[in-house]
Amino acid sequence: MPPTATPPTDIAAVSQAARLRGRVRVPADKSISHRALLLAAVAEGTSRLSRVSDGLDPRSTAACLRALGVTVDVGRDGEVVVDSPGWAAWQAPGSALDCGNSGTTMRLLAGLLAGSALEATLDGDASLRGRPMGRVAEPLRAMGATVEGAGGGSTAPLRVAGRRPLRAIDWTTAVPSAQVKSAVLLAGLAAAGTTSVTESTATRDHTERMLRARGVTVAAEPAEPAEPAGQAGSQRVSLAGGQTVQPRDERVPGDVSAAAFWLVAGAAHPDADLALEGVGVNPSRRAVIDVLRAMGASIAEAAAPGPQAGEPTADLTVRSSALEAIDLGPADVARCIDEIPALALAAACASGRSRFRGAGELRHKESDRLVGIMEGLCALGAIVDLEDDDLVVQGGAGRAAYGLRGSTVRSLTDHRLAMTFAIAGLIASGETVVDAAASAAVSYPAFFADLERVRA
Ligand code: S3P
Repeated sequence: MPPTATPPTDIAAVSQAARLRGRVRVPADKSISHRALLLAAVAEGTSRLSRVSDGLDPRSTAACLRALGVTVDVGRDGEVVVDSPGWAAWQAPGSALDCGNSGTTMRLLAGLLAGSALEATLDGDASLRGRPMGRVAEPLRAMGATVEGAGGGSTAPLRVAGRRPLRAIDWTTAVPSAQVKSAVLLAGLAAAGTTSVTESTATRDHTERMLRARGVTVAAEPAEPAEPAGQAGSQRVSLAGGQTVQPRDERVPGDVSAAAFWLVAGAAHPDADLALEGVGVNPSRRAVIDVLRAMGASIAEAAAPGPQAGEPTADLTVRSSALEAIDLGPADVARCIDEIPALALAAACASGRSRFRGAGELRHKESDRLVGIMEGLCALGAIVDLEDDDLVVQGGAGRAAYGLRGSTVRSLTDHRLAMTFAIAGLIASGETVVDAAASAAVSYPAFFADLERVRA
């Protein structure tokens, strides 16, 4: 993929910005980029994709697919042509598939390998090796695939030996997870019968939308009242095995999870006016926008021409706002799980005490984000506590720079923490030094270039 701006060293020093102005073209959506590549590789034939993310995570997906015998040609500006012999004709890789830092790559590929005629090992970096894979191994084993891993079969490296046809299952996820739902549905394409996944809170539905756009019938309905306590937002998604995924040309929308950093920067900074172009506002992903608005953020939204990849997109404008505290329950936390670090910073700049309830899933992301958020924001002078799995943030409204003072902050080599603390640096007094800041390239290679532009 084309070379992209990253900080010259792995340390980013961000000083307080006098003002924030300009337009940002946020990177292509990471979740959709992974799925566009994977589904193009499942389909037999050629798919022309545009505006695919050049983040390190989607690059890991592309590299794994090449190792499976799929041609993935990367051109300029996110143009990618995928030419595949089709899922059933993938080749056995010569060595372990390196998923890098990417949980989406590992979990979705595990589902596809389970439904292939191949045996392959999925591995990743130290962070990925520490993340729970039992949640995906278990249903795939129930479908008849062999999945072995470290830690009693629950962590990478994961050896997956596929079987065709698999057994169809009705699976209820223990925690809301689009990755687990997607892995089971993708494996379900190779199952005899109808496979379903029930989740207590509906997670992002990109896999379902993108499968439908490629000719696959996928049903989604509210879950039975008796299923996970009949909570609002629970759903059951199902598909019949044996359906063919067609190749498709598609353009990936901008990443709302990347936009979240600028939405928080723009709302919290006292002199800001930022425009964000072509942001994906899929109802299952846009909760961060609605939560920030509920906190008092001035965010204007104009529908952009589209949809792109079956996803609604919008141009967003955010201006300096007086933020108020928020109390989010577990279902809302699940709906903006990737944006909680940025929202915690917004809470630190608000009036009143915010609570993010039942946020324990954040311990299993690229780092233990609950600890990372608390330690990082506290290092900057915020008052943040953990009460079991609740994150409690005392807002600093009314104090200069909300009481945030530049300091040295640890990102735990986690892209979303690195970007959250860099944004905090635009607001805090003095200079904020973020370690392992190059990790931003996992999802947003041009992040620091954009940061320099909007403060200019
Ligand atoms: C993702 C799902 C979420 C999210 C991750 C991307 C996806 O993970 O945190 O960044 O693309 O499906 P979980 O499925 O573990 O919640």
